[in-house]
Amino acid sequence: MKNVTCIEDLRQLAQRRVPRAFFDYCDSGSYAEETLNANRRDFQAIKLRQRVAIDVSERDLGSTMVGAPVSMPLALAPTGLTGMQHGDGEILAARAAAEAGIPFCLSTMSICSIEDVAAATDKPFWFQLYVMRDRGFAKSLIDRAAAAKCSALVLTLDLQIQGQRHKDVKNGLSVPPRITLDTILDIATKPTWALSVARGKRKTFGNLAGHIPGSENLKNIAQWVNGQFDPTLNWKDVEWIRSVWPGKLILKGILDVEDAHIAAKMGAEAIIVSNHGGRQLDGAPSSISVLPKIVEAIGDQTELLLDGGIRSGQDVFRALALGAKGCLIGRAFLYGLGAGGQPGVAKAIEIIRKELDITMALTGTKRIADIDHRVIAA
Ligand code: FNR
Repeated sequence: MKNVTCIEDLRQLAQRRVPRAFFDYCDSGSYAEETLNANRRDFQAIKLRQRVAIDVSERDLGSTMVGAPVSMPLALAPTGLTGMQHGDGEILAARAAAEAGIPFCLSTMSICSIEDVAAATDKPFWFQLYVMRDRGFAKSLIDRAAAAKCSALVLTLDLQIQGQRHKDVKNGLSVPPRITLDTILDIATKPTWALSVARGKRKTFGNLAGHIPGSENLKNIAQWVNGQFDPTLNWKDVEWIRSVWPGKLILKGILDVEDAHIAAKMGAEAIIVSNHGGRQLDGAPSSISVLPKIVEAIGDQTELLLDGGIRSGQDVFRALALGAKGCLIGRAFLYGLGAGGQPGVAKAIEIIRKELDITMALTGTKRIADIDHRVIAA
């Protein structure tokens, strides 16, 4: 990790170390990637107020997310196939998050299962739920998350049907990786990755294998998702999930004020303003651009978190300034994982922590609670 000073450095390392199909899966957005790009561009357009001659010798990044203390207001977002960026990726990321004092969220589409992660870590983690057509299976996932003492259930609402990511189609993304001359040549140049995945606990979807027939070998993930995920998912189902999940509920993928009003009535502890990292509806606005409207509409009713495009502590600071209580990062930690396993994820978290800390100092802000609209340059 020498000479790694920013998330982009981790991205470039990951690109060299992770087979193309999995790096592209992480890095890409859907269709023309307009929303993916807007997520970044709109953060960069927010300018901060430089303040001087304020004693900033004592700074505190501590805060809370969904009622639990965090060392800074940041969580690792749920990401599918994390164990294909590096063997046992979910366990390694969960451990790095726990050591850093921030939440980790496990995806339904993870390689390590809920039980694998629970056995390998001693801090509670969040579990993200995709609702399948088979409601019995959805209920069993909720029960497994409860048995593993997950501290929150994150219900993702913006992927009833998958947006197309062109590179996944072109690369023939599959789990386990498809064995072709191309992939063999590619993997041959990525020995650290190959060893980590070979040694990893699992080579396929840990939460699904043994429960959904055929999920052990997915040659066409997008087609499988569109066959299994329930396109009828609606607010009545959210009410049902609220009634069967005993713990904290977080609704993920809200991007519209009208949806935010409905979501706020569901009794969820938090809402994640998100466009799935620009991987679903291309042409949707960036998450950061809709945040102020959603804060105005329901900010007093529920906790608002945000993800999409966060690549620095400055971006976290901007989101907090516009009213988010905390943020999640997807790609930023996955690049770290691909670049260097658990130390790589720890590095990504540390980079963002330091950037947030210095940004607080240079804007004359000493506590997270003091970051509000006043830190934005007019
Ligand atoms: C995701 N995301 C996601 N979300 C979710 O609820 N369940 C999932 O399984 C996945 N899988 C997934 C895989 C990959 C490779 C990425 C990059 C993203 C979306 C994720 O939780 C989050 O919303 C975005 O990653 C946030 O954007 P950034 O931080 O990646 O720009």
